[in-house]
Amino acid sequence: MSNPDNTKSDSHMPDVEDGFVKTLNNTGYMTAGLDRFSQTFVDFAAHAPIRVMDVGAAYGVATLAALKCGATVLANDIDERHLNILYDRVPAAERSRLELLCGQFPNIEVKAESLAATLICRVMHFFDGAAIELSAKRVHEWTVSGGKVFVICETPFVGTLTAFADEYARRKDQGDPWPGLILDMHSYTPRASGLPKLGNWLDRDVLTRVFSEAGFAIDECEYFARPEFPDWLQLDGKESVGLIATKN
Ligand SMILES: C[S@@+](CC[C@H](N)C(=O)[O-])C[C@H]1O[C@@H](n2cnc3c(N)ncnc32)[C@H](O)[C@@H]1O
Repeated sequence: MSNPDNTKSDSHMPDVEDGFVKTLNNTGYMTAGLDRFSQTFVDFAAHAPIRVMDVGAAYGVATLAALKCGATVLANDIDERHLNILYDRVPAAERSRLELLCGQFPNIEVKAESLAATLICRVMHFFDGAAIELSAKRVHEWTVSGGKVFVICETPFVGTLTAFADEYARRKDQGDPWPGLILDMHSYTPRASGLPKLGNWLDRDVLTRVFSEAGFAIDECEYFARPEFPDWLQLDGKESVGLIATKN
C-alpha cells in the first residue's frame, strides 16, 4: 500500500520530560541531548568515509545529529516502533543516508569491517557479562582499521544505588570481573520499575578491560557528571562512564 505522507509509524515519540523521553519497551529513557562522548561520535561520523552505527538508537538523538552533519548511519534498536518513529523524525532529504536494523545487538548481522564507528550509548548496562564481552568482540570485527567505538554506560555511582556501595566495594576487593552486576534491580529501588530487571553498572576498570581484550586501543575512559539527571539519581559526579577506543 502506498504511504502518502512517507511515514513508517502509527505512533509518535512520547513527550520530552525534563530532558528525557520514555522508551516504549521499559528500557529507560532516551536523553534529549548529547553527552560529550556522543557528541564526539557525531563529530567523527561527520567526516567518516563509510557508514557508522548507532546501537540502541531509540528515537534517534544521536542518529539525527550525525545525519544532519552528513554521516551515513545504520541505526539499530531492538524495538521496531522506536526505529519507525526515528525514521519519521529524519528529514526526507537525509533518509537516503539512513539504514534501519531492528534486532538484538550484538546478535545482528553486520558485514566485517563495514563501519567507521559505533556508538553504544546507555544500552550495555542492561547486558550480562558474556553479552558485553561478545558486544566488544563483534564491534571490533565490524569496524574498519582506524575506526572507533564510543561507549557510554551508567555506573554504580548513582543516587539510587547507595545501598549497594558496600557490596560493590567488597566485590572490587575480591577482583570480581562484574562488580556492578545486580540481577534484580527492582528489589533495590522502586525507581527501577521502568527498567529491565538486570542492571550491570559499569566502571572504568571493567569497560577498559573488556574493550582492550577485544583488541581496541583505549583513547580515553572517564567518568562524567550528569547534571541533567533528576536529583535523586545524581551522586558524586561519576554517574556515567564514557569510553572512546580505536581499532588499529
Ligand atoms: C536507555 S535507551 C538509550 C537510548 C539512547 N541511546 C540514549 O542514549 O539516550 C536504550 C535503548 O536501547 C534499546 N535496546 C535495549 N537493548 C537492546 C539490544 N540488545 N539491542 C538493540 N537495542 C537495544 C532500547 O529499545 C532503547 O531504545
